[in-house]
Amino acid sequence: MDDRTVGQSLEHDHHLIDGQFAAFAQALAEDRIDTASLSAATEALRHHIWVEEQLHFPPLREAGLFGPVLVMLREHGEIWNLLDRAAAQAAQGSVADLEQTWHSLAELLTAHNAKEEQILYPSGDQILDEQTARAVATALATGARPDGWVCQMAGQR
Ligand SMILES: [Fe+2]
Ligand SMILES: [Fe+2]
Repeated sequence: MDDRTVGQSLEHDHHLIDGQFAAFAQALAEDRIDTASLSAATEALRHHIWVEEQLHFPPLREAGLFGPVLVMLREHGEIWNLLDRAAAQAAQGSVADLEQTWHSLAELLTAHNAKEEQILYPSGDQILDEQTARAVATALATGARPDGWVCQMAGQR
């Protein structure tokens, strides 16, 4: 276990996921669909969202951060839907459609991560007790989300 705070671990995870998407985006710019990178990035991002919604956000909501948490949940729903769409388009081999979806996803993800890193994560580092903080870090590193789990606001438009 390193000495990062939970907020720093989640921020670091953003960067790892960004790196996986960057490989996918690089290939897409060359009109290739890097399915392996897309799948790896998608899986990592879904895992990350699971940790946030199951463990990290509930104590923040209890501490009174209803609005910021709700905004994050809504954005997770949009992100989740875009990941579903990207997977379908990758399976169909439609590069042009995938480029559009990736553009939306990249833009949303950049804004979403910035808000978490500036607001939710610093608040979390103040609010979470030690036991919860450890549970978040452990789930992030080694947890497995249940089969079929989807984020709270997935599927809504
Ligand atoms: Fe998030
Ligand atoms: Fe996040």
